[in-house]
Amino acid sequence: MEFKKVSIRSIDQSAVRSLAEDWALVTAGTKDGFNTMTVSWGGLGEIWGKDAAFIFIRPQRYTFGFLEANDRFTISFFGGAQKKALALCGSKSGRDTDKVKEAGLTSVFDGDTTYFAEATLVLKCRKMAKYDLTPDGFLDDEVADNYDGTNYHRMFIAEIEETLIK
Ligand SMILES: Cc1cc2nc3c(=O)[nH]c(=O)nc-3n(C[C@H](O)[C@H](O)[C@H](O)COP(=O)(O)O)c2cc1C
Repeated sequence: MEFKKVSIRSIDQSAVRSLAEDWALVTAGTKDGFNTMTVSWGGLGEIWGKDAAFIFIRPQRYTFGFLEANDRFTISFFGGAQKKALALCGSKSGRDTDKVKEAGLTSVFDGDTTYFAEATLVLKCRKMAKYDLTPDGFLDDEVADNYDGTNYHRMFIAEIEETLIK
């Protein structure tokens, strides 16, 4: 099935449920080199007058380098399907394996972005800002339990430039 371009504002599925329960793939790079990884932390909303996506990526992820090197990334949602593929892309690293092949996903190369033919919803995002989380900002003691004193997430704030659905 072909993707069709819509406004992100016409999507009424819960962003919290989609991310937290169904998960998504964040992908950066092109046919000349890309990587993808599963995410469940993040959000969708508005900032600086733009519809925006917020993702949180630990620096040790192989995908991190691709996010740094490219102006754009995509977020692919699968509507609760492809859970096995997403579990694989969230446990293995593209440093060691061809995750896409192993997961049985089909890459779609579109300009300077990459996403997956099996997705039901794709957000094409353009980076606007990045911030590293630091422990001095933690107000709830439990937050620090997510870290071992290092490898704090980097937040990328990105404009949602295009929304594709099936
Ligand atoms: C359900 C799920 C959600 C995840 N969410 C995130 C996330 O939001 N941020 C992050 O840095 N890692 C997250 N991960 C971990 C990465 O997906 C995982 O470390 C992955 O293997 C990194 O792949 P890479 O090294 O090829 O980039 C998640 C893993 C799973 C299974």
